[in-house]
Amino acid sequence: MTKYTIIGMILVIGASMADTDYSSDVTCLRKTVDKIVEVLSDSCACKKKKCESEEITCSAKRPSDCSDLDKATCKSGIYKIYPENTSGFNVFCEMEKHGGGWTVFQHRQNGKLDFYLDWESYKNGFGKLDGECWLGNDHLHQITSQGKYKLRIDMQDFEKNSRYASYKQFGVGDEKSGYKLTVAGYNGNAGDSFTYHNGKKFSTKDKDNDISGYNCAQSYNGAWWYGSCHYSNLNGLYLKGNHNSFANGIEWHSWKGYDYSLKTTTMMIRKA
Ligand SMILES: *[C@@H]1O[C@H](CO)[C@@H](O)[C@H](O)[C@H]1NC(C)=O
Repeated sequence: MTKYTIIGMILVIGASMADTDYSSDVTCLRKTVDKIVEVLSDSCACKKKKCESEEITCSAKRPSDCSDLDKATCKSGIYKIYPENTSGFNVFCEMEKHGGGWTVFQHRQNGKLDFYLDWESYKNGFGKLDGECWLGNDHLHQITSQGKYKLRIDMQDFEKNSRYASYKQFGVGDEKSGYKLTVAGYNGNAGDSFTYHNGKKFSTKDKDNDISGYNCAQSYNGAWWYGSCHYSNLNGLYLKGNHNSFANGIEWHSWKGYDYSLKTTTMMIRKA
């Protein structure tokens, strides 16, 4: 078996266990999986820090996000990262596309997972890290408060077209701020349907932080940095292309308007 086969197998095991809720009698198994993910993350990050002198035998620096992983040895998959002041958590790292080193925090691909969820769900995150998921607003805050981050959003429709929107600056405040969004510096071919949301607080169906007279999250069946209300709604309902309802699907207004729900979306961040 090659090294990559082994790493691949470990990742597959890790991924398949990552979402299972284990009862106490198998806790140690879960811990073992965590440990494997942890060791793997450490060893990848270590290789990036080429040992400058021979005395320093690779002090295993823990990755603060996916951009600390070595692109030559780390494949896309689940890794444990350790943002400042946290004890670490698992994320999906995109290591091949667009130069690699991306920490993925949102993914839609088939509509199997319900995204019309409450504040607590969006705070803590939900779904499978290597499938449909939201990483969690607390984690988004923890990662982006470490420095300057950029954002990339990849989107696909049901006619095999792809577009992207990238932003030079991206950050999320803490819960007290309402997970206030900072976003600026658009570039891409999907059009800019996100800068409008700069400075807005996050809202969910049970927590109305928007600036409209009604509840945007309820009206548009999502959870987002709504204003009054939105130009994008990537956590909306999975409505599979054209729909008769107004703006409540996975919408990116500047590409598809308010009556087309996208097939896939990926939102990911990397140190700027
Ligand atoms: C970590 O904690 C220290 C001490 O409270 C604080 O100064 C620093 O800003 C924190 N780092 C982040 C990224 O929140």
